Amino acid sequence: MKIVKVKNYEEMSKRACSIILEKVNSVENPVLGLATGSTPEGLYKYIIDAYKQNEVSFKDVTTFNLDEYIGLDKHNVNSYYTYMKEKLFKHLDIRPENYHLPNGSADDIKKECEQYEKLIEQAGHIDIQVLGIGVNGHIGFNEPGTPFTSRTHVVDLAESTRLANARFFDTLADVPTQAITMGIETIMESKTILLLVSGEQKAEALARLLDGPVSEDVPASILMEHPNVIVIADEAAWQ
Ligand code: F6R
Repeated sequence: MKIVKVKNYEEMSKRACSIILEKVNSVENPVLGLATGSTPEGLYKYIIDAYKQNEVSFKDVTTFNLDEYIGLDKHNVNSYYTYMKEKLFKHLDIRPENYHLPNGSADDIKKECEQYEKLIEQAGHIDIQVLGIGVNGHIGFNEPGTPFTSRTHVVDLAESTRLANARFFDTLADVPTQAITMGIETIMESKTILLLVSGEQKAEALARLLDGPVSEDVPASILMEHPNVIVIADEAAWQ
């Protein structure tokens, strides 16, 4: 595990951007794994800037997002589809058929999960997966207690996760109770993992990842067993 300590959120985002650009510019038909939430917003802004400066093209890039809420239409303002479209995809030359999120409105959710796995496999697996971390140590929406052997599946969101995400919704009751997420084993098959950690509210999760035992109680702790992980964490995230 390579640990990069940076001053603040901006520096974290800039460093992450240069790692992503390096990957996109060096791999043929790159496959990116992407996350939503507050953490990667700065990264996406820097990617868009780089694209506008002609430093990178996304026309041969395929992406897979970690997760999507169940029960929100993809055009709902709070869906992860809308987040990705607004904050990244619509600003780039990525082909609409090349970006993927699980479909949280699928009639057959189990089939949707299996199909998502197949698509990732057909794309040749993820070259670099961007991850944020939950205050409870979750990755994707794999909450504490999720088996390390999990593949793309349906989750009941932990109350702490719903509370943390309520800031994007009008009321807590509007926050969906379920989501589809890539499984932990699916995430671990990514060739490289880039974990971004910012802010003091993430300090405990980061410490449990770095110092604690590898345990299903802290989903992110499995990253210790991945051969190629880069963690970029800002000063506030170190206790
Ligand atoms: C988002 C995701 C989540 C977030 C995590 C941190 O697609 O899978 O694991 O990365 O909840 O969220 P933020 O960045 O909002 O603190």
